[in-house]
Amino acid sequence: MTNQVKIFDTTLRDGEQALPASLSAKEKLQIALALERLGVDIIEAGFPVSSPGDFRSVQMIAKEVKNSVVCGLSRALAGDIDACGQALSVAEQFRIHTFIATSEIHVGAKLRKSHDEVVDMAVAAVKHARKYTDDVEFSCEDAGRTHIDYLCRMVEAAINAGATTVNIPDTVGYTTPTEFGGIIQQLFNRVPNIDKAIISVHCHNDLGLAVANSLAAVEQGARQVECTINGIGERAGNASLEEIAMILQTRQAMLGINTNINSQEISRTSKLVSQLCNMPVQANKAIVGANAFSHSSGIHQDGVLKAQNTYEIMTPESVGINKNNLNLTSRSGRHVIKHRLTELGYKVEDYDLEAVYDAFLKLADKKGQVYDYDLEALLFFDKQKHDH
Ligand code: KIV
Ligand code: ZN
Repeated sequence: MTNQVKIFDTTLRDGEQALPASLSAKEKLQIALALERLGVDIIEAGFPVSSPGDFRSVQMIAKEVKNSVVCGLSRALAGDIDACGQALSVAEQFRIHTFIATSEIHVGAKLRKSHDEVVDMAVAAVKHARKYTDDVEFSCEDAGRTHIDYLCRMVEAAINAGATTVNIPDTVGYTTPTEFGGIIQQLFNRVPNIDKAIISVHCHNDLGLAVANSLAAVEQGARQVECTINGIGERAGNASLEEIAMILQTRQAMLGINTNINSQEISRTSKLVSQLCNMPVQANKAIVGANAFSHSSGIHQDGVLKAQNTYEIMTPESVGINKNNLNLTSRSGRHVIKHRLTELGYKVEDYDLEAVYDAFLKLADKKGQVYDYDLEALLFFDKQKHDH
């Protein structure tokens, strides 16, 4: 079994579902490009059938993103799958993600179908999606509360129908790590064709266990984790990408698992998502909270000055926090702006410094302090002006 775990980001789909107001297509594209830079393997860009706006933004992201697979969500219905196929067809690499609920309560009360009918719908959906692409993911919604015999049957049927990734969501964040890891272990022990697909997990955080459950699943062989930046998502949110990535990186020697995440992009991506989604990050949030790398007590400060790893298990620089950050205000000159943009990875020939500096001063007059994500937004709008 490979030791590489794929990171599937659903900030723009499950994350966006939790926002009081939708993001604009341009904002979604800005986030998608940041996720691509972060090294996300698969970006779930939206749910194309849900609205014409979502269709257009998935299509726009599919056109622009080159280094990540772009994915769209669909129920197990031909019309949803067709909308996905059409929105994504412009992408360099794309995936169709189709799902149906499998737990007793969802099958009986929501779908009002027999168990056999639900298996038939799943199989038909996967086969239909395969007409558009070889990269098809199937999810058993509410798998965490699904009877294990039925879950095994569904996973086997989906793989036989052509699913290349099968996702096991803990949709309502109900399971505990031992229990959820046990479900994944049982699937590996009981489903005969399991090695023909990647097993993925998608955990919600209702009991604060989304990351722990995802990790337990990886320890049992799951090789894709679905997550969101800052853990945003329905209700208490989804497993947070930055926590998963930094657990696997910081404890690589013990876990032996790698990802493609470029961890130095974590901080700026977190700030961008927080700003555009209008979702502040709590100060004590692991990895990306304002206090995640600050030491308050005298004993800790003294220890860190003597040797950084006395109280720091990872460096702030490893997640892209530059401790020597200069404050950008209306008193900052254009050379400081150029320097900061270079640090952020932008080449001076790719933007109009005078125009960006002019926009920066206007913003600084309004806001006081200008942050990296503000600068990136100014650059983004400068690029849009030149592209259109
Ligand atoms: O939580 C969930 O079950 C989902 C599925 C659509 C994957 O978001
Ligand atoms: Zn979800």
